Amino acid sequence: MSDTKDIEDKILVEISKTQSLKELQAIKIKELGKKGRISNLMKSLSEVSTEEKKVLGKSYNELRANILKAFESKELEIKDADILKKIKVEKLDITLPVRPGNNNDAGKVHPISRTIDTIIDIFSNFNFVVETGPDIENDFNNFTALNIPDDHPARQDHDTFYISNKDNKERKLLRTHTSPVQIRTMLNQKPPIRIIAPGRTFRCDDDATHSPMFHQIEGLVIDKNINMGHLKGLIRSFCEEFFEVRNLPIRFRPSFFPFTEPSAEIDIGYNKKGNSIKIGQGSNWLEVMGCGMVHPKVLVNCNLDPEEWQGFAFGLGVERFAMLKYGISDLRNFYEGDIRWLNHYGFNTTNGPNFDFKED
Ligand code: DAH
Repeated sequence: MSDTKDIEDKILVEISKTQSLKELQAIKIKELGKKGRISNLMKSLSEVSTEEKKVLGKSYNELRANILKAFESKELEIKDADILKKIKVEKLDITLPVRPGNNNDAGKVHPISRTIDTIIDIFSNFNFVVETGPDIENDFNNFTALNIPDDHPARQDHDTFYISNKDNKERKLLRTHTSPVQIRTMLNQKPPIRIIAPGRTFRCDDDATHSPMFHQIEGLVIDKNINMGHLKGLIRSFCEEFFEVRNLPIRFRPSFFPFTEPSAEIDIGYNKKGNSIKIGQGSNWLEVMGCGMVHPKVLVNCNLDPEEWQGFAFGLGVERFAMLKYGISDLRNFYEGDIRWLNHYGFNTTNGPNFDFKED
């Protein structure tokens, strides 16, 4: 018995002297590890009589429990001391004012983020909620459920990045549009549904007017007795808000999308003066988004009865909206990360340290 007490005292002294987690770990292995001292003591129990085993076993168990407790409290002690040391060394005065006139290093909000935020704001006022989906999608959500089966010619319009699949599992891809979020939402939520889904989309395309990664915002409304009039009213209000133009000239041109019937493309009126575009006047039309009434087959694919539920959907390209609103003429600038460009086209946050300081 007293042997056990001796051992315990020795180990406790050793533990109390340690200064680092590394040292502590080494002692822990030596004493408590599989081949450590206490495991060996436990093993030695097989060589003693049953009577002795009872007594010794109990004291070894107590020994192990006490040692373990000491290790744990020492570990906490070292960690606490480390943190205190760090706090002492790393002084950071968050009350220091920002240096005026030296704003070059301050971040700016990217026009794409700003455009997405503005669009979310507008639709929030129309009682829409934001939904998101993953960049990597399956074939069903991106195509099949949207009424674009395997052999459908519309698949060719989407130059899809497929993700190689060696294990012959379900084929994955980088989503070619944000429309799969419609499917995810209808499969997971009960109507009525009113969502917009902003996000990254991908197509194997790269030139002055196309980037392999771009952004879209998808909208979906599912309810009872929804018709095209609701769609037209909503889109008009949205475009007027976004472009800040009352009585914006807007037209719905018949079009085709496999997931809507009828489908339309939306054009807004503009005027061109030199290189700049003025939205809301003039006789030119600019295509800004696609829309339509959700195809009954899409509803059925999402387990909704088309006799009971109807709805509309729309999709827009964020880059195009940003270019039109902020007069940006080259798509590629968005992704080059040129800080001079961002300083010019980016936005200051409305509060926070990167407010422009104007000194009198
Ligand atoms: N997904 C379409 C595309 O990427 C855009 C779109 C058009 C979405 C019409 C819609 C819609 O929801 O109704 O080209």
